[in-house]
Amino acid sequence: MKRPEILLFSVLVLVGISACRNDNPPTDIPTMTREKPAPSAAAADRPAPRSGAGNFEALVADYESKDRVIWQKPGMVIAMLGDLKGKTIADIGAGTGYFTFRMVPLAEKVIGVDIDPRFIAFMDSIKVRLPVQYRDRFESRLAKPDNPMLAPAEADAVVIVNTYGYIENRIQYLQTLAKGLKPGGNLLIIDFKKNNLPIGPPDEYKVALGQVEGELAASGFEVSKVDEESLDYQYIILAKKK
Ligand SMILES: C[S@@+](CC[C@H](N)C(=O)[O-])C[C@H]1O[C@@H](n2cnc3c(N)ncnc32)[C@H](O)[C@@H]1O
Repeated sequence: MKRPEILLFSVLVLVGISACRNDNPPTDIPTMTREKPAPSAAAADRPAPRSGAGNFEALVADYESKDRVIWQKPGMVIAMLGDLKGKTIADIGAGTGYFTFRMVPLAEKVIGVDIDPRFIAFMDSIKVRLPVQYRDRFESRLAKPDNPMLAPAEADAVVIVNTYGYIENRIQYLQTLAKGLKPGGNLLIIDFKKNNLPIGPPDEYKVALGQVEGELAASGFEVSKVDEESLDYQYIILAKKK
């Protein structure tokens, strides 16, 4: 993103925070707050996550932390999707739109998908402040925990950042998601590496890289790239719909 766009985006986020703030004081929370990962078929006795639960203002502050850009490297991550010109991208578990709004100037359309109406309202509050020429490129979409609510072959690419562990019955979810992706379309998944690193949730809250790879293979995706080096705290998986 160019410097004026970064500045514009920061202003939009600040305005969005004040538009959506509630009266609860912010609490101290670890970076990228989350509950325990959703159960896999093999661990169905684990508690299901309550996605987005907690103090909304604190979640927003966490997701939009100004230091995040240093370790999250959003520009590098987005570049892994290649040229987005003319493409429709779905950001599943978009939250505040950290990735969604960074992709808006680059793509034809970006759908910020979330199951939490508070994040949908937050993203919408930012949309109305986008420059006119970008406004139609963004759409928020309230989804269901088991369905991203994409139309058949609607997206050229899908990103799931820091959200994979929230999804229950992931193989079934990925099969549903694949229907919303064009043949050969890319799926980019980024999540936290294990090893009790200084950034990210405790290890028990994370989904191991190998497990994600296995679930992708079981749901009809072909893993085309695994990158454990570019981000200090997270792995990146690029997969293709077969
Ligand atoms: C930790 S946040 C990540 C937000 C954003 N991707 C980022 O990196 O800043 C996880 C988000 O996923 C959403 N979420 C949880 N389960 C979901 C599901 N099954 N489908 C779509 N969104 C989900 C939550 O409401 C929350 O906004």
